[in-house]
Amino acid sequence: MKFFIDTANLEQIKEAEALGILDGVTTNPSLMAKEGITGEDNIINHYKKICDIVDGDVSAEVISTDYEGMIKEGEALADLHPNIVVKVPMIKEGIKAIKYFSTKGIRTNCTLVFSVGQALLAAKAGATYVSPFIGRLDDISTDGLHLIEEIRLVYDNYDYETQILAASVRHTMHIIECAKIGSDVITGPLSAIEGLMKHPLTDSGLATFLADYAKGNS
Ligand code: G3P
Repeated sequence: MKFFIDTANLEQIKEAEALGILDGVTTNPSLMAKEGITGEDNIINHYKKICDIVDGDVSAEVISTDYEGMIKEGEALADLHPNIVVKVPMIKEGIKAIKYFSTKGIRTNCTLVFSVGQALLAAKAGATYVSPFIGRLDDISTDGLHLIEEIRLVYDNYDYETQILAASVRHTMHIIECAKIGSDVITGPLSAIEGLMKHPLTDSGLATFLADYAKGNS
């Protein structure tokens, strides 16, 4: 399973990259704004900085909602770096744009996916990744992980190559359950990724080993 970090914070991206297990980065306009990155030029520069840090796929989102605008923006984003994946919203114009990009060999991430029907359309249009937002479904009392299961089933039925990128991951159990279901990718905050390594028995075991070593060497 690939691990992406879902942030525009360069320090956190560097920290995740230093772990050696990072496969990519996802961002969105809200995450950019959270870091104070606004305006087209600043956003473009920020994508370049992210691509310099991580040797993996970097999702860059189009802002246009019309087909022509998405194509223009997406082509410019794809030209920035070979690792850029153009992130396109799951709307009618977005599906058309994903189809266009797939015929041009430009990789895409279909975002804001909340149903299996939407995921099916994204795959048929040739999306490289589909991003179901599991945390936001959980927020409204709907089982986000169940959506990942359904999409896995449908994609496997027809051998769709579109990769399931579980997004809006909020915590470690989301990651573990996604791994059990067979999600191809998760994207989440650094805290959720780092949470995977924590166990009190690891901490107490290490403390004992170090204390016993110190006794023998004092
Ligand atoms: O990957 C999608 C993500 O950025 C949305 O996460 O936590 O705002 O639902 P969240």
